[in-house]
Amino acid sequence: MRDLSVKRSVDLSALWSITALLLLTSASCGAGDQPNPRDVENISGIDNLIAEIAKIDFDPDIDPFHQNMRLGRGINLGNALEAPYEGKWGVSLDESYFQIIAEAGFNSIRIPIRWSGHAKMEPPYEIDPDFFSRIDWAIEQTLSRNLIAVINMHHYEDLMEQPQSQKERFLALWDQIAARYRYESVDLFFEILNEPTLNLTPELWNEYLEEAIGVIRKTNPSRLIIIGTALWGEMFALEELILPEDDRNIIVTIHYYRPFAFTHQGAEWIPWSHLWLNLEWIGDQSDVQEVDYDLKHLQSWSVENNRPIFVGELGTYYRADIRSRIRWTEYVTRQSEQKGFSWAYWEFGAGFGVYDIARADWNYSLLNALIP
Ligand code: GLC
Repeated sequence: MRDLSVKRSVDLSALWSITALLLLTSASCGAGDQPNPRDVENISGIDNLIAEIAKIDFDPDIDPFHQNMRLGRGINLGNALEAPYEGKWGVSLDESYFQIIAEAGFNSIRIPIRWSGHAKMEPPYEIDPDFFSRIDWAIEQTLSRNLIAVINMHHYEDLMEQPQSQKERFLALWDQIAARYRYESVDLFFEILNEPTLNLTPELWNEYLEEAIGVIRKTNPSRLIIIGTALWGEMFALEELILPEDDRNIIVTIHYYRPFAFTHQGAEWIPWSHLWLNLEWIGDQSDVQEVDYDLKHLQSWSVENNRPIFVGELGTYYRADIRSRIRWTEYVTRQSEQKGFSWAYWEFGAGFGVYDIARADWNYSLLNALIP
């Protein structure tokens, strides 16, 4: 994980110079001297100093790199609340899942949610109260086990197809979500939108994300916000991502499924993917070189832009052979950790699953690859 000592030492040296300046200021005002407020202001710019001190971030809780370390190793509770309705894709959340995830050693749960399927189509686009209560429950199940909860907005297909006509609704949904959880623990993170794509172009996405941040910040000035890249969450869309410079309480997310033909072999929703069946991931030089190249690129972007990275989805479909899946999962997660990224496996108990819901047990070889 990222070494915070550099930042801390910068903070400390800033503190030392300010302290020295304050000492000098008080020394120049010897005993018996009448302090002249105007002089003090002119000599030391006390207000400026105080403002400088206020800017120094001593609280690790609001350092997004620190928050990203806490996000750590996560898992997506996929195919449940982002399905058209819960259960439709074979996964209904059960209290026991949260417990076994915590016991397995994960630090966080990403909860994909299809808000757009549970809200009115007309203003004020009210979110279904029963659905909202179900999300309350999922958040509570997560937070009460000392795990960080990430809630997102998943499969908002109309927004991808007709961004202009859906924008008002998109922002109204976030307005309601943000208001509802304004007093919730700081361990609840908001992720604005899963995999912006199609007509929600990188340019439009930059506009929409800024407006969504504005809506969220009205009620949640210090909530950690996660923002993904356009073009299906692709890492190469990082170059096009524009974030508000002055809002540092942000983690950037990308999804990692490379090589796509290997991770998505035989995936029924990807045309022709049966042609990829039997592709292996050996972990030889050419295999690891590809991953290394990608993660290095990610790391450079993160350093240059001073933004932490969350690999919010990574995983392999069950049709790939298990040995290859284990090798890929182990390599990608360990290398991500070494570069200071947090990650969340896609996903818990469905087609990419690491847990077998029918058998009520983990696939331990895959789990050990995630959490050695
Ligand atoms: C994206 C999709 C999800 C899919 C996953 C893997 O998150 O939204 O439905 O299962 O990628 O392809």
